[in-house]
Amino acid sequence: RYYDEAPADQIKRIKKIKAAFGSDLMIVAHHYQKDEVVAFADARGDSLKLAQIAANNHTAKKIVFCGVHFMAETADILTADNQDVILPDPMAGCSMADMANPFQLTKAWEFLTANYGQSIIPVTYVNSSAAIKAFVGQKGGVAITSSNAKAIMKWALKQKKHLLFLPDQHLGRNISLSLGIKPDQIGLWRAQEANLQAADPRKLRVILWDGYCSVHQQFKLHHVQALRQKYPDIKIIVHPECAHEVTAAADFVGSTSALIKYVDQAPIGTRIAIGTDNNLVGRLKASQPTKKVMFLNPYSCACILMNRIDLPHLAWTMDQLAAGQSGHVITVDPQTAYWAKQALDRMLQLSL
Ligand code: 13P
Ligand code: SF4
Repeated sequence: RYYDEAPADQIKRIKKIKAAFGSDLMIVAHHYQKDEVVAFADARGDSLKLAQIAANNHTAKKIVFCGVHFMAETADILTADNQDVILPDPMAGCSMADMANPFQLTKAWEFLTANYGQSIIPVTYVNSSAAIKAFVGQKGGVAITSSNAKAIMKWALKQKKHLLFLPDQHLGRNISLSLGIKPDQIGLWRAQEANLQAADPRKLRVILWDGYCSVHQQFKLHHVQALRQKYPDIKIIVHPECAHEVTAAADFVGSTSALIKYVDQAPIGTRIAIGTDNNLVGRLKASQPTKKVMFLNPYSCACILMNRIDLPHLAWTMDQLAAGQSGHVITVDPQTAYWAKQALDRMLQLSL
């Protein structure tokens, strides 16, 4: 019935319920959320900022988390025990996070430690399940987000000679190359087949998991080339989840927050094509009319999982809370949360 109801009624109700809860309730939204959801956000951010908010805000007893499942799990791990993290649609997952599971990781770790002994450190992108973060935390590894990846990978490579990076091969490759790691020092772990792809495994510094983002893989080198040919003065900016041939051809590579800052600071009249999720690019297009913002891929590149959170799901969640129900609370079991927190705390410490 929520899809049959007039949006104006839902907007009115959400506002009223939110006001009634006051500072006991907070709505946070990732930059990829729809405008209709972002409109209610007390805070908006990239995955690092949302993790920092969860770690530092202990006032709100209910945090309505408009983002995807791994982000809500991270928030649950970092918030206090008396705070509930509520995901308006529990089906809002992340296809990349689903590309690594603990069974596969255990197999990979057995193989890698048999070859490299104790001289390997695991590093996981936050776009991974709490169970993966727990494995990494237990082995002395660390989590990263796209905005702190370079500094933390640099730190990790100082701790150990070899590094296992999961689950996003593109982010891992882009950061490794930017740190001066040579292509033949980077190998690829095929998780399905449990084998390592490398000319000479002894040379490897970084072993990448073979995951990827289904949204960012849709930005191709030919999109960059076509726009450069049409508009020689264009600036092309992309998220580091794009393949290396795309990031190498771009003018700037950065997290969602860094992409927003780039557009904010660009001189009036600059033509900028952006390679990331549609909702964010569309919002930048609308909010920066003095700049010529456009989509890098002219066909829709939307994160359908982020888009599962919409006005009807938010209205349903708020109605549940107003009725004294819990909504979809995301809870990580204490044992997993304990170890995952080690990886996340290390990340937050290194991001200060
Ligand atoms: P950010 O770290 O830039 O928020 O990106 C998260 C994400 O899921 C991008 O696809
Ligand atoms: Fe996951 Fe990609 Fe969506 Fe980000 S854009 S949440 S990495 S599927």
